[in-house]
Formats: sequence, structure tokens, C-alpha cells
Amino acid sequence: MKKLVMIGCGGIGRYHLGHLLQFDDIELAGFCDAMPERAESFVKEAGSGKAFTNFKEMYDEVKPDMVFICVPPTEHGEIEFETIKRRIPFFVEKPVALSLDLAYKIRDEVNKAGLITAVGFQCRYSNLVEPNIKFIKEKQIIFVDCIRIGGVPSVSWWRNKATSGGQIVEQTIHQFDIIRYVFDEPEMVFTLGTRGFVTDIDGYDTDDLSVTVVRFKSGALGTISTGCYAKSGDAADSKIVFSAKDARAELRILNDLKFFGYKDTSIKTSDNTESNSKSEGFVIKGDGGFTASTSGVITYKQEGDAGLLCDRAFIDAVITGDASKIRSPYEDAVKSLEFTLACNRSMETGLPVKISYK
Ligand SMILES: NC(=O)c1ccc[n+]([C@@H]2O[C@H](COP(=O)([O-])OP(=O)(O)OC[C@H]3O[C@@H](n4cnc5c(N)ncnc54)[C@H](O)[C@@H]3O)[C@@H](O)[C@H]2O)c1
Repeated sequence: MKKLVMIGCGGIGRYHLGHLLQFDDIELAGFCDAMPERAESFVKEAGSGKAFTNFKEMYDEVKPDMVFICVPPTEHGEIEFETIKRRIPFFVEKPVALSLDLAYKIRDEVNKAGLITAVGFQCRYSNLVEPNIKFIKEKQIIFVDCIRIGGVPSVSWWRNKATSGGQIVEQTIHQFDIIRYVFDEPEMVFTLGTRGFVTDIDGYDTDDLSVTVVRFKSGALGTISTGCYAKSGDAADSKIVFSAKDARAELRILNDLKFFGYKDTSIKTSDNTESNSKSEGFVIKGDGGFTASTSGVITYKQEGDAGLLCDRAFIDAVITGDASKIRSPYEDAVKSLEFTLACNRSMETGLPVKISYK
């Protein structure tokens, strides 16, 4: 049985552990965390493996076949280089680094070693992705409107931009990544950020809200707005709208997908689909007047656990040696990092930033 170890036994580590415990064809052989009690609690929960505070000692002793790296954004570098040196396939959480230079170096070493890698962009494994891609292939998308408004996560490193990368890089990168995956690559971004609205959190030092304008390679434009000022879900509806001339798709990541003015005949409409003719939203008619859209709405609901599929895709790849089912290998995840870091650069300089993948 292949041996799996984990570095970082915090919030997202626990999420992965919940998945890994459902697989009976791998051995959970070691858990490493800078805080020993966290690693020990994972050993207890798993009912197997040994706790470590030093990942090199864990590698020496356990000789793992694969590793899940679930550490905060500032901790990348030494762990990956050592893991690559030892030729251990790795699953790593987003964002893969906070600097592009570091991400490029790790990517190049991964490629040289021909190592299997995967990154925690689990939204790519959602059942909503396939109908969304089909819609985008059939319709010419002119405008992408994305919004993600939430609150401030409780982990202390998150509230400081120097240690998290800020909300775009740490969190809304899921939205940036899914837009790349289902639609198109970005060419240029211009981002404005604002502060001063979140006033009640100790040590808080990041943007409360940012709005990014994106030009995609196809010529389409997008806006991606993200904020962490909200105290309630009533503040805003977080979703991504892909708008064509006569139809639109509205994706609520890991939740649901609605089509307006579009019927997908090839994908089965089962219990998972709701159809109705209620008015939702408005369209502008040729004369410029607002008219309620009466087109049908098809709703696909999230089914199953995309995170489970994401983890399983990596494990299957390590077991079989076939990495073709991994939807987010390291090299691709670097592009999502580049997209989001370009927004930070634009915020800092007050200028548009061109994205040129190296
Ligand atoms: N894919 C997702 O949806 C998702 C969701 C949440 C978090 N994340 C990502 O996962 C990463 C971790 O986030 P989290 O919420 O689990 O943070 P966390 O602070 O809850 O957990 C991180 C753990 O890593 C440990 N750690 C730190 N440095 C270490 C080192 N050098 N060696 C060993 N252990 C070390 C810490 O002690 C802590 O227990 C972040 O990059 C975050 O963006 C991804």
C-alpha cells in the first residue's frame, strides 16, 4: 500500500484528512506540524501514522510515496525543493507561493524531475464545470462579471497582506482560477483596492475591497470584485456571470449553475435540474428599455464532494503513474498565481499590468 504523509495539520489539512480517511487503499503514515499537538491530534484521528515537527525527519523515517503540503502561503520553498529532491509526488495547497520567482523555480524543478503534482483547486472537479464549459463553447462570451464578498477568516496570518498575499491571492484565486479553467486566459488587469472599512479586527492590514478589470485573450472584458468586509450573506450575492449576446450562465462555485436564454439538450435534466419560467434579472432590449427576462432558467446543483474527487485524482495518479486526470498540476496553478499577483501589482502601482506567462 502507498504511504501518504501530510505537512501542515491546520484547517485545510483537516479537510483533506476527512477525505483521506475514506480511502482504504493508502496508508496514512505520518503527520508533520510545527505545533506538535496538531500533528498528534491527526495521528489520533487517523488511527495510524506517527507525529513529527520536522518534515525531513518524517521523510527519512517514513519514506513516503506521496505528500499533502497544507502550510500557510509564507511557508513554501524549502519544503517543495526537498520534496522534489527526494522525488516524492506532492499535492500542495493554493496559493503555491507569494512570489512568482519562487513559484517559477519550483515549477522548473518539478518539470525537470517529471514529478506528479496537484494543487488544491477543487472547484475544477465540480459537476457544474462541464455544463459551464459547454455553454461557453457554444456562446461567444463578451463579459464576465465575478463577485466574491465575505468576511475575514479566523486564521491570524490571513488578516495581514504580507503573510496571506491579500484576499485576491489567498482566497478569490479560486474564482480567478475557475474563470481561466472554463473560459479564457487573462491578458491585462487593472485593480483598485480600498481600506478603512474593516476597523474591528486586531492586526488587520489588508484590502477591504478590490475591483479588477480584466482583458481576456479573446477580447472579452471582465470585472472581478472581492471584499472581506461583510458581516452577513445579505451584503452581496457571490457568483460569476458569463454573458453572451442572448444568454448568460451564472455560476455559484460549488453551489449551482443557472442558464438564462440557453437550453442544454445534450446534458440530461434529472432530479439535479430545476426548470422554470420565472422572471429573473433584466435584459436590455434593442431600444434600450429594461424588460424582465422571461427566458427559462436551468439550475444544476452541486453534487458530491469536489474536494474528495480532487484528492482522489492525485492519489490515483500516484498509484497508476497516469497524471492525465489531474485538473490542476503545479505548472498550471502558477498561472493563476500570476493572474492574482498581477492584480496586487496593479493595486500597488495604480497602473494596468500586462500578464506574460514565463
Ligand atoms: N483549497 C481551499 O479551498 C483552501 C481552503 C482553506 C485554506 N487553503 C490554503 O491552505 C493553506 C493553509 O491554510 P489553513 O487554513 O489550513 O491554515 P492553518 O493556519 O489553519 O494551518 C496551517 C498549519 O501549518 C502549520 N505549519 C506552518 N508552517 C509549517 C512548517 N514549516 N512545517 C510544518 N507545519 C507548519 C501550522 O502550525 C498550522 O497548523 C493556505 O495556503 C490556504 O490558502 C485552501
